[in-house]
Amino acid sequence: MKEKKFEFEYEVYDDIGQLAEEDAWLLREAKSVTEQAYAPYSNFHVGAVAMLENGEVVAGTNQENASYPVGICAERVLLGSVATLHPNVAIKSIAISYNSDEIKSDHPISPCGMCRQALLEYETRLKKPIRLILGGMEGNVFIIETANQLLPFAFTKSELG
Ligand code: THU
Repeated sequence: MKEKKFEFEYEVYDDIGQLAEEDAWLLREAKSVTEQAYAPYSNFHVGAVAMLENGEVVAGTNQENASYPVGICAERVLLGSVATLHPNVAIKSIAISYNSDEIKSDHPISPCGMCRQALLEYETRLKKPIRLILGGMEGNVFIIETANQLLPFAFTKSELG
C-alpha cells in the first residue's frame, strides 16, 4: 500500500488592487457583467469573462429557469460562446465574480463540479491551461494557474479510447 497526496498552489491577493493590470481589468469586467445574469430564483448573479489567446474577450452569465435544473452556470454559458464565436482559439484566463441581493460578495467563489468538468474538457481540447481569477465584488482574489487542478481524478476523453 502506498499513500499519495494531491495538492496544488494558488495565489491569494488581498484585493483587486494587487493584481496585474490585465487580470484586474478582466475581473472588473466579470463584476460588471453580473448585471446580465438571469437569476430570479437564486438572486445569485454570476459573471465569467474570458481573455483569449488572440486578445478577444467573451463574457457569460448564469441563466436560470423556472424548471430549476434547466438553469446553466455562467462558466458553461461562457465556454459555449467561446467555442462558437472563436473556434480553436485557446483561453488564456477566465475571471469569475458574483453579486447577490442576499449575501455579501466579499470573497471568491470557485466553479461548481459540473463547470470544473467543462473547463477541463476545454483545456484538453485546446491543449492550453486556463488561468482562473476568482473574486467577489470586494475582498480577496485567488488565482489558480490551471483549471485542471480543481478536479483531481477527473474523467477525461483518454478513458474512452
Ligand atoms: N452558479 C454559477 O453560475 N457559477 C458558479 O460557479 C456557481 C453557481 C450559478 C448557478 C445558479 O444560477 C446560481 O449560481 C446559484 O447556484
